[in-house]
Amino acid sequence: MPDELLRVEGLSKRFTGRGRNVAALDDVTFSISGGETLGVVGPSGSGKSTLARVLLRLVEPDAGRILIDGEDWRALSPKTLRRRRGSIQMVFQDPLSAFNPRTTIGKAIMDPLRIHAVVDRDARNAVMEELLQRVGLSADMSSRRIHEVSGGQRQRVALARALASRPRLVVLDEALSALDVSVRGRMLELLVRLQAEEGISYLFIGHDPAVVRMISHRVAVMDHGRIVETGDADAVFSDPGSETGKALIAAIPTWRRSGSA
Ligand SMILES: Nc1ncnc2c1ncn2[C@@H]1O[C@H](COP(=O)(O)OP(=O)(O)OP(=O)(O)O)[C@@H](O)[C@H]1O
Ligand SMILES: [Mg+2]
Repeated sequence: MPDELLRVEGLSKRFTGRGRNVAALDDVTFSISGGETLGVVGPSGSGKSTLARVLLRLVEPDAGRILIDGEDWRALSPKTLRRRRGSIQMVFQDPLSAFNPRTTIGKAIMDPLRIHAVVDRDARNAVMEELLQRVGLSADMSSRRIHEVSGGQRQRVALARALASRPRLVVLDEALSALDVSVRGRMLELLVRLQAEEGISYLFIGHDPAVVRMISHRVAVMDHGRIVETGDADAVFSDPGSETGKALIAAIPTWRRSGSA
């Protein structure tokens, strides 16, 4: 693997209020190399989405450091942050929530091109159409609105928009979970191809161990806000060391456990 892209050290986040006090992240430390996929699994409520949101700066952590290419994300000046902001992008489970229903798909993809000043105004349209093609959609999709296309097409659009800012890291939070099996398979192939072509890193959050195993080089198992185990994806899934990991494997129907389907 090439050099370390992301390094997270001692990340903690507690949610309090209204009788709640939960350590959603508790001293989380890990790293991801350029071109590497780290899978994140764990029971519901273990902190996976909170981790994603903290990386995207949608949630402010209580403690910890996030280093991208050695740069401390929480210490960047607003100006530098604006310039770097595109380097981490996210694709959610439900892309509808992340899109303005009134704007066209083409405009939704061109917005980051403008905001992150990736390309000149004149070239934006061509780059947008190229991005659609890269994710396997035709350019005429650009005049449609997000609710007018299928779930699988929506996730491709979301990915095209994420790619528009030329990210180094794409965080996928259950991004493929709502898709049917064959559409999900094609999305996985697409993610792998993009990674090979562009050296993008992924943080892939998923609840289906077979899918996570298929795409991940390494896997982190989370429970109660902590990473309880990390390792090579095949090793973690074939011989988990943590109780949480064992429970996740035990929950896979046995007819699937041996294969990779
Ligand atoms: N904005 C919030 N306010 C209060 N508590 C929150 C908030 N966001 C998350 N939590 C709590 O933090 C913990 C971790 O939640 P998180 O969404 O990160 O879990 P998750 O691993 O993504 O779960 P799932 O697999 O169900 O998506 C949970 O106990 C959750 O209730
Ligand atoms: Mg979640």
